[in-house]
Amino acid sequence: MVECAVLSYSGYGHTRRLADAVQRGCDDVDGVMCRNVVISSDGELSAAEWELLDRSAAIVFGSPTYMGGPAWQFKKVAEASSRLWYEQRWKDKLAAGFTNSASMNGDKQVTLQYFFTFAMQHSMIWAGTALMPASTSQARRNDVNFLGSFSGLMSQSPSDASIQEAPPAGDLESGVLFGRRIGACALQWHRGR
Ligand SMILES: Cc1cc2nc3c(=O)[nH]c(=O)nc-3n(C[C@H](O)[C@H](O)[C@H](O)COP(=O)(O)O)c2cc1C
Repeated sequence: MVECAVLSYSGYGHTRRLADAVQRGCDDVDGVMCRNVVISSDGELSAAEWELLDRSAAIVFGSPTYMGGPAWQFKKVAEASSRLWYEQRWKDKLAAGFTNSASMNGDKQVTLQYFFTFAMQHSMIWAGTALMPASTSQARRNDVNFLGSFSGLMSQSPSDASIQEAPPAGDLESGVLFGRRIGACALQWHRGR
């Protein structure tokens, strides 16, 4: 079994639903076991969770976009990972990222860009969504990759929507497909090494 992890934070539960969709998609891939690693509200991980990340062939990073970047809880974990950076423990693992926020744009790209830079500091290999955008005049909100993001997955939850209402079904489906891609890539990458 190739182990993979979805490392994410969610303040109010919307990004958690997207993380679950990505984890499910990745775990669907034969030969892959993918687990959620949930960052606590004080920005901490247990020793067992750090070990799980250490064993994982792929780590998908996720956070809501708050004030134009990842939540501080994610950043705290990122800074704590600097002790692993010294030893390049995450070198050559696959990396990918997703974010969710209230506005269609809302500066989500900045969060994805942060994840990418973080992954590069760890000498990881970045994978994008590989999902074609729903960008024609016929496109509907529940189409896959309606937000048209390639470098990582984007999702939008209206600021007054409950976690039952958002992220919308199309964004969650995009999450599952994105997770499947990461699982398939992790398998290929792991076998080729
Ligand atoms: C402190 C804070 C800052 C936020 N900043 C942004 C932002 O920069 N862009 C945006 O589109 N939405 C922003 N939002 C809205 C959240 O991204 C949105 O409500 C998201 O669904 C929350 O995800 P969560 O339920 O996983 O915490 C912000 C919300 C909070 C609480």
